[in-house]
Formats: sequence, structure tokens, C-alpha cells
Amino acid sequence: MANLDTILLDHSHCERKAAGVALNLMFRYPSYTRLVRQLTAIAREELEHFELVNQWLEKRGIPLAPLSSPPYGALLKAEIRRDEPERLLDSLLVSSLIEARSHERLGLLATHCQDRDLADFYQSLMASEARHYGVYWVLADTYFEPDVVTERLEELAIKESEFLAHLHPEPRIHS
Ligand SMILES: [Fe+2]
Ligand SMILES: [Fe+2]
Repeated sequence: MANLDTILLDHSHCERKAAGVALNLMFRYPSYTRLVRQLTAIAREELEHFELVNQWLEKRGIPLAPLSSPPYGALLKAEIRRDEPERLLDSLLVSSLIEARSHERLGLLATHCQDRDLADFYQSLMASEARHYGVYWVLADTYFEPDVVTERLEELAIKESEFLAHLHPEPRIHS
């Protein structure tokens, strides 16, 4: 709460990156009809979130600017195996975990933010991020056997928790 301006700027970067991740997967798997259809919707929603967060930045007089990322995303990305089909499975599950974690963090912001309007805004985004978590997970279930998905999700979730156990010193959504 003491670094809300930085958190808002970081959040803007998160939403743009989330749109980029969805688009990248569409480029990588252009013939996966269901994936393309679902990720088209996600990319559009993330860009809408990006626009809304940027309106908050403008309202608070915070200029768009580069901001260093916490190690969270890069550490998770490094867990994605390089060969197919594992690469697709891991990409979907890593995105799924990031969306779920964003849901959690936006929820914390919604609970603790003193500015009622901003708290409502965080609350409104929370539901979308939870839905995105579900979409990525269901996509994994579409292309892979359920037990393969569950086992890998558990492995990655443990890694994700370990990464977050080392607190990043800068205020970020995924510190
Ligand atoms: Fe979003
Ligand atoms: Fe999302």
C-alpha cells in the first residue's frame, strides 16, 4: 500500500505481458483451433485490462515507464521444457499458475486498498484472472491426459511456491 504507484505501474506491465503471452501461443500453435479461439479472447481481455490500468496511471499522474521485473516470470519460464509436446503443456500450466497468482494478489490489493474505487477495480479484475487460470488449465486438459496434467501442475506449483518464498525486495505484483 505504501508503494501503490509502483504497483500500478508494475500491474500495467503485467497486463501487457499477459496479452503478449496469449498472442505468442497463438503464433506458436496456429492450427490448434480451440487454443486459438480461447486465447484470442484472453489476449483481448488482457489488453482491455492494460487500458484500464493505464487510465488509473493517468488519473494519478504516473507516466508509463520501464520497470524492472521481479524474477518470478523468468524463473517460471525457465521451467518450461523445450521439446514438444512438453513445451505446450508446460507453457499452458505456467500461464495458468501466473493467472492464479495474479488472482490472489489482486484480491489482496482489493482487500487492503483504502481507495474504494481502486479497491473495486482490483476486485473486478480478480474474477477475470481466476477465469484465465481455468481457461489455461482446461486447455492443458484438452491436449493432454488428465493425470499427466495433474502431475506436472503439482510439480510446477511447488516450484512456483519456492520462487515466491524468496521475497523480492522491490514492490511488485509478483514479489
Ligand atoms: Fe488481466
Ligand atoms: Fe489474466
